Amino acid sequence: MSASSQEQRKAFYLTTPIYYVNDIPHIGHAYTTIAADVLSRYKRMTGYDVFFLTGTDEHGQKIQQTAVAKGITPLELADRTVVNFKELWKVLGISNDDFIRTTEDRHCRTVQAIFKKLLDQGDIYKGAYEGWYCVPCETYVPESSMGEEKTCPDCRRPLQMMKEESYFFRASKYVDQLLEYYEKNLRAVMPKSRYNEIVSFLKGGVRDQSISRTTLKWGIPVPGDDAHVVYVWFDALINYVTACGYLDDREKFARYWPAAHHLVGKDIIRFHCVIWPIMLLALGVNPPVTVFAHGWWTVEGEKMSKSTGNVVDPFEMVDRYGRDPFRYFLLREVPFGNDGDFSEAALAGRINSDLANDLGNLLNRTLQMIDNFSGGRVPGAGRSGPLEKEIEALAGKTLADAEEKISSFAFDEALKSIWVFISRGNRYIDETMPWKLAKEGKTEELLPVLHTLYEILSLSALLLAPFIPDTAVRIREQLGLGEEPGGLSLLGYKWGQTAGGQKVRKGAVLFPRIDLEAWKKEKDAREGRGKVPPAAPQEEEPLLHEETVEIDSFRSVELRVAQILEVQEIPRSKKLYKLTVDLGYEKRTIVSGIKEFFTPEELTGKKIVVVVNLKPAKLCGVESNGMLLAAGDGKKTALSLLTPDRDIPLGSRVS
Ligand code: ME8
Ligand code: MG
Repeated sequence: MSASSQEQRKAFYLTTPIYYVNDIPHIGHAYTTIAADVLSRYKRMTGYDVFFLTGTDEHGQKIQQTAVAKGITPLELADRTVVNFKELWKVLGISNDDFIRTTEDRHCRTVQAIFKKLLDQGDIYKGAYEGWYCVPCETYVPESSMGEEKTCPDCRRPLQMMKEESYFFRASKYVDQLLEYYEKNLRAVMPKSRYNEIVSFLKGGVRDQSISRTTLKWGIPVPGDDAHVVYVWFDALINYVTACGYLDDREKFARYWPAAHHLVGKDIIRFHCVIWPIMLLALGVNPPVTVFAHGWWTVEGEKMSKSTGNVVDPFEMVDRYGRDPFRYFLLREVPFGNDGDFSEAALAGRINSDLANDLGNLLNRTLQMIDNFSGGRVPGAGRSGPLEKEIEALAGKTLADAEEKISSFAFDEALKSIWVFISRGNRYIDETMPWKLAKEGKTEELLPVLHTLYEILSLSALLLAPFIPDTAVRIREQLGLGEEPGGLSLLGYKWGQTAGGQKVRKGAVLFPRIDLEAWKKEKDAREGRGKVPPAAPQEEEPLLHEETVEIDSFRSVELRVAQILEVQEIPRSKKLYKLTVDLGYEKRTIVSGIKEFFTPEELTGKKIVVVVNLKPAKLCGVESNGMLLAAGDGKKTALSLLTPDRDIPLGSRVS
């Protein structure tokens, strides 16, 4: 990238909070950082010059205490923990451009320079502070908001009385100026509810803030007064300007700072939307464009905490479910500003329904048909009818939605919109039934359908690339599309751009379905839950099963019409047949325990209903890919195959 072309692109500066190094990384850290990564990747793909920053917050009482408890120095603690964060970002595929540690020299110098400037201009002065302090939260708690028995209103732990000489920051002076800024910049705090909360808080006034400590050694020394170290929050917030060159690279600062966006959790918005912008105003610098506060995750309905032992370890989730499904789940499950509940069951459910069923199937079926009906090469566009025009319009809407939603941090809505498009693709297959067109020799109708499906997949891969980057690459490989030299881009994108002729390469399934029953057993075992008590013995099977299921769990079973082509015996099996069935778009082997009820002649040619998305299983050494539906009398004396009651094309969906 030459300097001049960088100049022409719009800048976008995005940050996560810097994380405390007294703790191991958990789902909360992963959440903000993944969201920031998605936004960064999307902005890069739409032509922005992105600077994406994350890092660690390494000073303060909390870090010092943890280090003492472990018998190491605070810096040793930081050096150890920072490795975990850096490793996690690698594991999660985070594309940050810089990583800042507050113990770095560039940062200490910036903090001291800012402190000195504010001191010189009279916005910092020396006084004395006395009050109740919460060490874990690193904050003084006013008496009015103290919990019972002098506990912290946030973490409920006991407060300590502290009195110290302290430097104060004249925050009160800038409240009106900040209110004015917020009146003019309605997106400066998001979502709207947080904006309102902050504005009304500001209207109640802000006191001058104590910004130094004498009771602590582990911090940046106040310039010219070694008895004091800078308060950890005053130090930490400054990281955002350190990394973009406030002190050392004014050109970089001038470029990125006016495009600054901070993502933070809802617990730290007063620091980010009151104190930080006031510090900036005092420095004569504009507050950030947007501070977006996201919600908090509970875990299976409970507050996440070390004492409950339910802290979600992102490394473990990636190990078990994969990086992309974890990224997808966190952003799809809950609107970014809201609280949400994490459970592995919900994650596994989304893998099966959204990723395996909707996305995986669309790719699989499309490539199979391009292989079968077009010799593995993508046909050219051909004639487009009303369906194709409708899909083209939907593609345009999906692109516009993605832009609007991602740019306003509504990641879940962007994904929903992309999934409407993917589902439209699957429905389009059902509507056009390419295998039927092929059989009837209607090539002129068939080829445009294959082309359109290919277009749907290549656009989906682009739009999904910020969210699930590995998957996007895998889809593109199967589509026969290579890497792009400058990285994937949406800038030059045009619907219908595929000339045709690309060789597709059907590969491994994108997301193997999770067998939920086996998964549940494995999870219970892992969590040390005892075996489920065996059900009370029953005389007879109950006739009616009254337990209800959600419509979604029914829908996740994909049923289709198929025809039995061939019936083979399986050596040494009294009950099983090996059936070859035709689904229209592909042929499959199904092993079925119906031998005692039917002769091969009775079965051959019959149209039946098949569960097509069942996890493959080996029966008597033969792999079965699906199951046929039959009704039994419960006593295993009679069996009846379900067949469609009139002629309907193979592959039709049963619902
Ligand atoms: O606050 N769900 O660092 P931190 C979602 N060093 N997010 C959660 C969460 C949960 N259950 N638990 C925590 C700090 N978080 C400071 C920041 S920035 C100049 C200094 C989020 O390591 C929380 O909201 O305690 C916060 O945004 C982030 O984890 C880091 O927390
Ligand atoms: Mg915290």
